[in-house]
Amino acid sequence: MNNKFELIYEGKAKKVFSHEDADKVIIEFKDDATAFNSLKKARFEGKGKLNCQISSKIFELLINKNIPTHFLELKNENTMIAKKIRVIPLEIVLRNIAYGSLCKQTTLKLGSTLAKPLIDIYLKNDELNDPLITKDRIELLNIVSAKDLDSIIDLTLEINRILQEFFKKIKLQLVDFKLEFGHDLKNNILLGDEISPDNCRLWDLNQKSDIIVSLDKDRFRNDLGGLIEAYSEINRRINDFI
Ligand code: TMP
Repeated sequence: MNNKFELIYEGKAKKVFSHEDADKVIIEFKDDATAFNSLKKARFEGKGKLNCQISSKIFELLINKNIPTHFLELKNENTMIAKKIRVIPLEIVLRNIAYGSLCKQTTLKLGSTLAKPLIDIYLKNDELNDPLITKDRIELLNIVSAKDLDSIIDLTLEINRILQEFFKKIKLQLVDFKLEFGHDLKNNILLGDEISPDNCRLWDLNQKSDIIVSLDKDRFRNDLGGLIEAYSEINRRINDFI
């Protein structure tokens, strides 16, 4: 990235740079992948580009459905321009199917469909290992107002409806996903971060048998191999559809 832009923040999968407009940022998607709070690390050449392309398309889809997001435009293959937000330190996970940590922490059977979408909220804090957090603790810690939390939950449910319908059309099952929100300079709540196979579980519906074929970061988390091939397939299906 051109050094006239100042690095404001570096996360595990993205870098955020300043923009000449004070209310915008430049987000660069990295090829790095981490899992289990960085216990596992690797680099996948081309992942940054794929996640940037996939996220941009999904943000455009959501914006067209009136979801407020930080996305403004694609800058180049692995960078996008976004509105500057103050990120709310919560990870909002929505689950349609029981998988991952939900099955490790409860008696729910792997792969069972939930009667209704479940929202699990985690505190975004690597040192504390992103613990599950309650509404009362969010209020106690003054992380976000009760009204804003209600808006975040309503937005997450609406995003799930939009994404489930969209992914079904391209033969993908949306198992679960993680979102992050923030406030813009006018204090509006916007969807931030990214929406990509790094933070969504997507299963291939083009399979004849009942076996689960993950086209997401579980390929890395569970040592399945073929991560770039899986992300490329998602990108291809999105581009063929749109
Ligand atoms: P989990 O089953 O490990 O709790 O993950 C639920 C969903 O959230 C899954 O789609 C992966 C995503 N996720 C992230 O994007 N970042 C994280 O740090 C974690 C733990 C999960």
